[in-house]
Amino acid sequence: MLPVLKFVLLPSVLLLASASRFPALACNNETDLEALLALKAGLSRHSDALDSWNTTTDFRQWHGVSCSLNHGQRVSELNLSSAGLRGYIAPSLGNLTYLRSLDLSYNLLHREIPRTIGQLSQMSYLDLKNNSLQGEIPWTIGQLRQLSHLYLSNNSTEGGITYGLRNCTRLVSIKLDLNKLHQEIPDWLGGLSRIEVMSLGKNKFTGIIPPSLGNLSSLRILNINDNQLSGPITESLSRISKLEMLALQVNQLSGTIPRTVFNMSSLIHIGLEMNQLSGTLSSNLGNGLPKIKYLILALNHFTGRITASLANATMIQLIDLSGNNLTGFVPPEIGTLCLNFLILTGNQLKSSTVQDWEFITSLTNCTSVRGVILQHNRFSGVLPSSIANLSRQLEIFDVSFNEIYGKIPVGIGNFPNQIKLELLSSN
Ligand SMILES: *[C@@H]1O[C@H](CO)[C@@H](O)[C@H](O)[C@H]1NC(C)=O
Ligand SMILES: *[C@@H]1O[C@H](CO)[C@@H](O)[C@H](O)[C@H]1NC(C)=O
Ligand SMILES: *[C@@H]1O[C@H](CO)[C@@H](O)[C@H](O)[C@H]1NC(C)=O
Ligand SMILES: *[C@@H]1O[C@H](CO)[C@@H](O)[C@H](O)[C@H]1NC(C)=O
Ligand SMILES: *[C@@H]1O[C@H](CO)[C@@H](O)[C@H](O)[C@H]1NC(C)=O
Ligand SMILES: *[C@@H]1O[C@H](CO)[C@@H](O)[C@H](O)[C@H]1NC(C)=O
Ligand SMILES: *[C@@H]1O[C@H](CO)[C@@H](O)[C@H](O)[C@H]1NC(C)=O
Ligand SMILES: *[C@@H]1O[C@H](CO)[C@@H](O)[C@H](O)[C@H]1NC(C)=O
Ligand SMILES: *[C@@H]1O[C@H](CO)[C@@H](O)[C@H](O)[C@H]1NC(C)=O
Ligand SMILES: *[C@@H]1O[C@H](CO)[C@@H](O)[C@H](O)[C@H]1NC(C)=O
Ligand SMILES: *[C@@H]1O[C@H](CO)[C@@H](O)[C@H](O)[C@H]1NC(C)=O
Ligand SMILES: *[C@@H]1O[C@H](CO)[C@@H](O)[C@H](O)[C@H]1NC(C)=O
Repeated sequence: MLPVLKFVLLPSVLLLASASRFPALACNNETDLEALLALKAGLSRHSDALDSWNTTTDFRQWHGVSCSLNHGQRVSELNLSSAGLRGYIAPSLGNLTYLRSLDLSYNLLHREIPRTIGQLSQMSYLDLKNNSLQGEIPWTIGQLRQLSHLYLSNNSTEGGITYGLRNCTRLVSIKLDLNKLHQEIPDWLGGLSRIEVMSLGKNKFTGIIPPSLGNLSSLRILNINDNQLSGPITESLSRISKLEMLALQVNQLSGTIPRTVFNMSSLIHIGLEMNQLSGTLSSNLGNGLPKIKYLILALNHFTGRITASLANATMIQLIDLSGNNLTGFVPPEIGTLCLNFLILTGNQLKSSTVQDWEFITSLTNCTSVRGVILQHNRFSGVLPSSIANLSRQLEIFDVSFNEIYGKIPVGIGNFPNQIKLELLSSN
């Protein structure tokens, strides 16, 4: 019992005692010291952000430095996120042999990431997003077998994704958004089998979506938005049984959406807007997406009707089918959903009888409707008076540029929010 009691009651005494018995517990290894001071010289040329990095003190009193209890008190974490640093990362970084986590995000660092980063074999977390780093990701990153997070956002790198990353088989999360990466998305990314988050948005990737990505069985989030991808949406993606977010918007993808995509029951967010996708929307689109909340297919070339099966996607909050060539009536079943936004702008949808507006009447049952945007279609006739019963949350109801006539329904002025009500007719 005694040793336990001693530990519980006298932790500080114990710590002091062991510290004096094992002086190595001070966090001041000279290899790390040299490396940190060289880093400081590069990182803080124009700021006093690292004034606490003072040779006379233990590293644990240095801003952003943590030491490991194992490995003889070597530096294990460096977090200088948002420290106002301007400068560059010195090659001495590679001498911080036991570094596991490096976060230099949100600074104004430039030049290249030093190749010596490849010596950091314990590294599992690397976040360099939102800097001005440039140059290719050094191939040596491929030596970071422990790497489980890699964040290199905002134009920190140019060139393609370095082949070296292929060796980072422990990667769980890759975020390379907001850079200038170009070339094709390498096939071998599909071999990083532990990846859960792959975020390559806002780069300049060209070529197709490699079918091998369908092998990433742990993937939950796939963002390749805002690139220059072309070709079809590879059917292999629908093998990813855990995928929650498929964000491929703002590319030049073409062809039809594989029907199997609409059977991916894990999906919560489908973002495919601003591509060149075409074809009709599968008549059972809404039957295999029990979790879907956001369905954004805007600004493509879809034709045909809006499928009533959408009503079976009962979790859906946002439907945006604007800027396509959809025809026919809006199925009344759509109104049984409880939507935040229904955006159908810029199609060739129509209405002529009161029944054709039934979707609006049914929507009055939903208290969370915030926007119904139907402008630039072929809706005609008289608006149903039920619009006055739409949710008190309503912010925008826009049927401008249609062929609507008749009186503005009584009671429509009663919405508590400052709603934007556009009833402007095109004729
Ligand atoms: C510092 O680390 C190096 C490399 O691990 C090691 O050789 C050296 O003995 C350490 N110095 C001290 C004072 O622990
Ligand atoms: C380190 O800090 C001490 C006490 O704050 C100060 O006297 C000394 O000048 C500092 N040394 C350097 C190199 O900044
Ligand atoms: C670094 O510190 C910031 C707060 O300053 C924190 O938000 C961030 O999560 C930290 N990074 C790591 C890798 O712990
Ligand atoms: C890394 O440490 C070694 C040994 O102390 C030293 O010779 C070398 O110059 C250091 N490398 C860098 C890039 O600072
Ligand atoms: C990037 O950092 C700048 C300041 O350096 C900040 O203004 C900007 O909002 C950041 N961008 C993102 C996406 O966080
Ligand atoms: C990228 O970083 C620069 C400088 O840090 C910042 O000014 C800019 O706003 C950032 N861009 C984005 C898109 O975050
Ligand atoms: C990063 O992007 C900003 C804004 O796009 C640009 O001004 C800056 O030159 C870029 N930095 C590098 C290193 O490419
Ligand atoms: C990747 O690992 C293989 C096998 O271990 C090795 O031969 C190769 O040199 C490594 N590639 C890079 C770029 O580190
Ligand atoms: C990965 O996917 C590609 C294309 O879908 C396939 O040919 C390959 O056999 C897969 N590799 C593994 C290891 O499953
Ligand atoms: C809709 O169809 C018309 C006629 O076929 C075509 O000119 C137009 O480009 C199409 N619009 C879209 C968004 O596909
Ligand atoms: C909605 O789902 C039910 C039950 O699975 C099915 O019977 C019905 O046909 C579906 N509705 C549509 C319009 O596909
Ligand atoms: C509102 O929902 C109830 C119960 O589901 C239903 O009986 C009623 O017809 C609905 N009202 C409208 C206007 O759709």
